[in-house]
Amino acid sequence: MTACLPDGPQARPEVEALVAYSAPLEGRRGLLRLDFNENTVGPSPKVVEAIRAIPADHYAIYPEYDGLREAVVASLGGMGLSPAHIGLFNGVDAALHAVFHAYGGPGDRLLTTSPTFGYYTPCARMQGMTIEALPYRLPDFGFPLEEIRAALLGPGGGGEPSGDWHPPRILLLCNPNNPTGTRLAPERILELAAAAPRTLVVVDELYEAFTGDSVLPTADFAATPNLVVLRSLAKTAGLAGLRIGFAIGAPALVDRISRVTGPYDINSFAVTAACAALADQAYVDGYVSEVLRARAWLLEQLQSAAVRHHAAGGNYLLIWPARPEATVEAELRQAGILVRSMAGKPLIDGALRVSLGTREQMARFWDTYQAIEALMLSATP
Ligand SMILES: Cc1ncc(COP(=O)(O)O)c(C=O)c1O
Repeated sequence: MTACLPDGPQARPEVEALVAYSAPLEGRRGLLRLDFNENTVGPSPKVVEAIRAIPADHYAIYPEYDGLREAVVASLGGMGLSPAHIGLFNGVDAALHAVFHAYGGPGDRLLTTSPTFGYYTPCARMQGMTIEALPYRLPDFGFPLEEIRAALLGPGGGGEPSGDWHPPRILLLCNPNNPTGTRLAPERILELAAAAPRTLVVVDELYEAFTGDSVLPTADFAATPNLVVLRSLAKTAGLAGLRIGFAIGAPALVDRISRVTGPYDINSFAVTAACAALADQAYVDGYVSEVLRARAWLLEQLQSAAVRHHAAGGNYLLIWPARPEATVEAELRQAGILVRSMAGKPLIDGALRVSLGTREQMARFWDTYQAIEALMLSATP
């Protein structure tokens, strides 16, 4: 029987028990935003032009999606994909939500790694799933491949149910991983997916364009219909605020995920912006090269100053300040720079995650960081 609360009926038990994903998103405009791994300079001018060209009377019309799937396929260079392989979502967060909604049921198991992107946990919990999150390997946050394989394939090693053991319903791999940057070779992921046909293998490739390795060029979705890849225009193309993300996989799988979303979940501005952004790959390539240049420069400074840090894939790195990370985070904020504290996260408690922007932005970050940590640099001129 459903209980009645003074302020209305109770939600599903999973929802009543849920700790919602919350992120410090307010009051960030005007600051140097190195806290959410967003593009730090904004989209291509062609995106801005395309949005400005939308006539006001078009705001009154429900969005049209034809053409965007084709544009995604073209931007990926074909790869044997058709528009039916592409699912469109209101950001990758919405794609994740839909994946769990479509495939995860009460008591089903999510297999993933730890620490990883924070939204996976509430998505699993709202479906009543259990979570098995295997830790990255210290000291370098290596991918726990043997452990994941064993947990995926079970005691018999074949991924078939036996006794009390059932294969995980979903294996979620963030590659490169946010926040450790850990990279896993695409061949390993494809092997895992092929060996575990009963498990949905979700590869979150949000940061692949920076320093990463995509499964898409070698994936065969006909042979691995249990594989789905998530991509977004938030971090590379500068469209985080417009919310647009893609799920790429076998047409039947994309169809199931799309069934649990509303018919007009992506707004017209996002569609127009995405088409313009995909048509200007040179802009994204230029931004990515700039971030990589800034990354190389910042790594040199960190090494010279002997600051403990960890950098692998993605447009971010981890830094362990000498003083408590909350103090350093607050002092950086006072200086107009936002970074993300990793307090309470397994293995990386005490670290700050710093997103990478342009060379100039990283110079500003580094000057401020040195000043507030009072670093005495010997090697940097
Ligand atoms: C690993 C990962 N996946 C998904 C998302 C969500 O992406 P989107 O902005 O497309 O919803 C993020 C955003 O930070 C992320 O870091």
